Amino acid sequence: MKKKRILSGMRPSGKLHLGNYLGALSNWAKLQDEYDCFFMIADWHALTDRTETSYIREDIEDVLIDWLAAGLDPEKSVLFVQSHVKEHAELHLIFSMITPISWLERCPTYKEKIEQGAATNYGLLGYPVLQAADILVYRAEKVPVGEDQLPHLELTREIARKFNTLYGKIFPEPEPILSHSPRIMGIDGKRKMGKSYNNYIALSDPPEVIRKKVMSMFTDPTKIYMGDPGHPYECNVYAYHKTFGNYKEKELEEMALSCKEGRLGCASCKKKLSEILIEYLTPFREKRKWIEKDKGKIQEILAEGKEKAKEVALSTLKEVRRVMKMDY
Ligand code: TRP
Repeated sequence: MKKKRILSGMRPSGKLHLGNYLGALSNWAKLQDEYDCFFMIADWHALTDRTETSYIREDIEDVLIDWLAAGLDPEKSVLFVQSHVKEHAELHLIFSMITPISWLERCPTYKEKIEQGAATNYGLLGYPVLQAADILVYRAEKVPVGEDQLPHLELTREIARKFNTLYGKIFPEPEPILSHSPRIMGIDGKRKMGKSYNNYIALSDPPEVIRKKVMSMFTDPTKIYMGDPGHPYECNVYAYHKTFGNYKEKELEEMALSCKEGRLGCASCKKKLSEILIEYLTPFREKRKWIEKDKGKIQEILAEGKEKAKEVALSTLKEVRRVMKMDY
């Protein structure tokens, strides 16, 4: 039986962090055997809120290195850069003609930006149309995304439906694959882990950096001295133990109890967490070592990805032009 096709993408945000791993990458890696996977580094999308492009090449490489370290395999999946496949832009233009502005103005991601007072531009408003083109140019049926992307996927389906009705049924209406992994807070314990909040632990952080970051984590503000009773279920450090430690239920309970009873101090609790995270990231560190030794390989993988992606995208655009009677 033919495998169903998946497409997902990430912006070139540079080195990835534990939040990216739990929320997306770990899920993608698991899907590789079951699906025909296309994973894209969305460099055009990055331009909606970034005019500084001097480091974008390195950021793209860093993302790819982390993808490989996290188990994405170029033998199984097509790993490529969005702007290498110009057909995304062509399809975006065609879709933009059938997308009412009102559909875009009601997108929560766009509304949020406006509320934050961000300077908006034409490209930002059209971002979900480009995303629809990213997905439909491969005629992907499934899209692994986080919850925040669901409105974009809904819009993708609406655009597909409208195109199909107007010109002929050539696009699937793609469904999300939601990841159910726990969303982790950043080390500040206040916001979700994010590059822009500077509250992250990178997959590539060396052990001494991990130790330093973990020791700086906020714990229960009422627990100051050893012996003070703690509140583990409200503590970010405890949440990390739960997510990343390989604990049995009983062990976790015992840890929570000893925190509550003041037998476990925050410093030793954090020391233990550092070692857990360092171990958790060992396989990434090991893989990265051989990837970094062979920088040429990165370009090779992207060139190969480009060829494979391009082949599919070209054949879709041929179909698009044919049903639109624009294949002249
Ligand atoms: N908008 C997505 C994000 O910000 C990235 C993205 C671009 C994407 N194109 C996509 C995700 C296509 C899924 C499918 O995370």
